[in-house]
Amino acid sequence: MSTPAVDTSKSHLIPDCLARPGDDPIFALNAEAGRRAKAGESIVNATLGALMEDDGRLATMPVVAEALAAVPPERGAAYAQIAGDPPFLLAVVRDLFGDGPLAAQSVAAATPGGTGALYHAIVSFLKPGDALLTTSYFWGPYKTIAQHTGRKVETFPMFGADGRLDAGGLAKALAAQVRRQGRALVLLNSPCHNPTGYSLDEAEWQAVAAALREAATVAPVTLCVDFAYARFGAGDPLSWVKAIEPLLGDVLLLVAWSASKAFAQYGARIGALVASHPDPAARERIFSALSFSCRGTWSNCNHLGMLAITELLRDPALRARADRERARLRGLLDERVAAFNAGAQRLGLRHPRYEGGFFVTAFTADGERAAERMRELGVFVVPLPGAVRVALCGTPTRDVPRLVEALAEGVRAAGG
Ligand SMILES: Cc1ncc(COP(=O)(O)O)c(C=O)c1O
Repeated sequence: MSTPAVDTSKSHLIPDCLARPGDDPIFALNAEAGRRAKAGESIVNATLGALMEDDGRLATMPVVAEALAAVPPERGAAYAQIAGDPPFLLAVVRDLFGDGPLAAQSVAAATPGGTGALYHAIVSFLKPGDALLTTSYFWGPYKTIAQHTGRKVETFPMFGADGRLDAGGLAKALAAQVRRQGRALVLLNSPCHNPTGYSLDEAEWQAVAAALREAATVAPVTLCVDFAYARFGAGDPLSWVKAIEPLLGDVLLLVAWSASKAFAQYGARIGALVASHPDPAARERIFSALSFSCRGTWSNCNHLGMLAITELLRDPALRARADRERARLRGLLDERVAAFNAGAQRLGLRHPRYEGGFFVTAFTADGERAAERMRELGVFVVPLPGAVRVALCGTPTRDVPRLVEALAEGVRAAGG
């Protein structure tokens, strides 16, 4: 829809806000899929990033509902501390680093989901006008947050000709950025990258570490690991620590932690930004900056959710139950991943290495055309430049063969 020209001098909205797109394109596609399904069509909706049971209901973890219900009302109703309650922050740090050396060198602040953590990373470690650096395929809200806060996004080619992370591309882009900006924030979403499903292996993390180490000799470099889907990968979600830990101090490490997917509790908005640095004075300054940012943005976070997730992280019996219930959800997803990989191989679809996670992408010459052709077949995916994103998290296993057939047809219609 074209927007009529507005006389900016007469608008109450400031010029930057005049032409903001109000609807998220993924939610718009999801709404269309919903409308057609309601009208009686057989629809496969692989657009939204929430894990659904095979019968179409949202997958939840009963232990989470119980932990929420067990919070005394007068505690849940009270304000949380500005930067988050210390037991919650400690539990998140331990969830990541256990009792290891990184835990002792970390501070954290509570945020509304991983999104809030990314917001804190972008506003605290980049100046207005600076650009963050991420992979050429990335989660759209990185750009929304950057734009909203007067920052930008720059990318490096995610995959080299061998289908692996283009670490040379990262090193080149990062070297240019530290020279130009005098600082850099590298944002990497692994394991289970959204939208590609890709998880970096140890050799790729070592190559990332080499690029970061080199750039950090020129200017301050921060690495932010977006950990949103980490509990749904095939291997150790913390396999990157070995490569990154030796850089600590030269490189600031951030982790954007989220309970949204890990506890199938998207609506409670529980997350944290964890920052690791060996210097206690630097840590204190970072903690103060994050606290200030909390106060100036959302004041404090959902206390009820924070208290419940704290118990789930630190009570051994509850934690074990949560792990078991999550393992069932991962099993559900893994069946779909296996069905996708088998079908994609049979039909010759091109896609990144995919071992687990909510999404995968199929490469195509024209993502828009491929997705359009697929919609004609009643299958909804999200178009990207040069690819389409498939949310297997929302696709029942029985529908995966139909989805893969439609993908092959969409890619054919798009010219390959
Ligand atoms: C790549 C990525 N990072 C972070 C998030 C943050 O999620 P939330 O704010 O719900 O924790 C999401 C959610 O979809 C995501 O896809």
